Amino acid sequence: MQLVSMKEKLASYGQEHLLAHYDTLSQEQQAQLIKELEELDFDEVIEYFQRATSDLDSVGQKLDDKMNPLDDSQCGSIIKSTDEELIHYQNLSLAEIGAGHVGILLLAGGQGTRLGVSYPKGMYNVGLPSDKTLFQLQAERILKLERLAAQETGKSGKITWYIMTSASTVGPTQKFFKDNDYFGLSKENIIVFQQGTLPCFTFEGKIILGEKHKISRAPDGNGGLYRALRTEGVLEDMKKRGIKYIQLYCVDNILVRVGDPVFIGYCLSKGAECANKVVRKQFPTEAVGITCKVDDHYQVVEYSEITTKSAELSNKDGSLVYSAANICIHFFTLEFLERVVTTNERLLQHHVAKKKIPYVNEKGDLIKPSEPNGIKMEKFVFDVFRFAENFVVWECLRDEEFAPLKNAEGAKDCTPSYCRNAVLALHQKWLKMAGAEIISTSGDEAPLMTSPASEGNNNLDSNGKEVEEVVITEISPLVSYAGEGLEPLVSGKQFTTPLHLSC
Ligand code: UTP
Repeated sequence: MQLVSMKEKLASYGQEHLLAHYDTLSQEQQAQLIKELEELDFDEVIEYFQRATSDLDSVGQKLDDKMNPLDDSQCGSIIKSTDEELIHYQNLSLAEIGAGHVGILLLAGGQGTRLGVSYPKGMYNVGLPSDKTLFQLQAERILKLERLAAQETGKSGKITWYIMTSASTVGPTQKFFKDNDYFGLSKENIIVFQQGTLPCFTFEGKIILGEKHKISRAPDGNGGLYRALRTEGVLEDMKKRGIKYIQLYCVDNILVRVGDPVFIGYCLSKGAECANKVVRKQFPTEAVGITCKVDDHYQVVEYSEITTKSAELSNKDGSLVYSAANICIHFFTLEFLERVVTTNERLLQHHVAKKKIPYVNEKGDLIKPSEPNGIKMEKFVFDVFRFAENFVVWECLRDEEFAPLKNAEGAKDCTPSYCRNAVLALHQKWLKMAGAEIISTSGDEAPLMTSPASEGNNNLDSNGKEVEEVVITEISPLVSYAGEGLEPLVSGKQFTTPLHLSC
């Protein structure tokens, strides 16, 4: 396209500033910028901006009058289930895994700004004795699950692991898996794909120039998944492989039971097409999203969207009415995903995140603002719940299944030490339940560590010092997926810390 007609096009969208520095660019940069502008669907992104920002007026509005809790019949729970039920759920899933019907979707396209490292979060090592990264822990849990399914069913069905990355995480993620020989999984069963990006806008609706020859872009949120499933051919791949059921999770949860057979089995037993695994809200004002019905649609409602009165509503037994806290672990049937991707994806609203976005000013200088100066538009992965007809939730225990890595050391929680201590506490509990005696370095029996995940504290004082004895016990996922199979190995035996039980 000629420069003149591009200028006219931009002017018609009120975006002519995007060519302000054109004359100062090298030929190569000029070509790059023109190509990017030609490829951008201005009608589409401006419509996204308008829809997303028109909603800003309603931010702060409460949803109380439209909300209802889920029916009891839709809510399963690990503590309320009998051992027989749990085994039944597990066996249902292992049979599907053995038959090769289960796929796993990992969301790993985030920028991890709060943690503040320059590489993808999955490559982070929180300092366990094994020095395993989040990616390795997750890979080994998948490997173990395949082995458990093979033992149980005699069929060695493979689990395909779909990893969603973004422009900034795709390269390092691919290299990391290759360099580590895919952590023992088959290379052909790990599919790394990339989510899309969207331009960043000023509050006034101008697309931001991140460099003189480049638009500033950000990943389109973890709900960008649904578009990427189509554009990256992932859905097609799932169909080709005969996958029927998918479990989704976020990269940062160090305790995540990847492909949890109990959760999946519960969903299968209910014939659900979509499900959310939740933890119980710890206190009424905890800032977590809760799962409920809004105007007859399933939804995750943010804490800021309900009044304290609703947040505090309790049942006869004292439990909170709205307590199903979202931890971003979902279940979908392939049929549901296909329906969402082909017919509902376009209806998903973008949410606005106000951010400090570096920009090139009129003089051509790169400015790093100290206050939010623009917006990124993001879709949320759980927004598809509203399209589900048969929806269930499964409540698990926080200290066993949820400890996300969000913040750098020094923050109140969700730091690397918080995650490491959550693993150590859980593994000590498993060892104790299996009949092991753990002796600490002082020669005495080690005290039972408190999990930072269950107590809401992170075992650190305000100076970042450990406030109680940290008992170093780690169990490789290849030895035990969720605490099973330990008794023959450890019962009646004494172990001295630091302990790393590996194959
Ligand atoms: P968060 O919202 O916690 O974002 O992502 P983040 O990138 O990890 O961290 P901050 O907010 O920049 O500090 C929750 C999950 O969603 C994924 C993340 O990788 C994480 O697993 N995610 C987020 C995506 O896959 N794509 C996105 O565009 C955003």
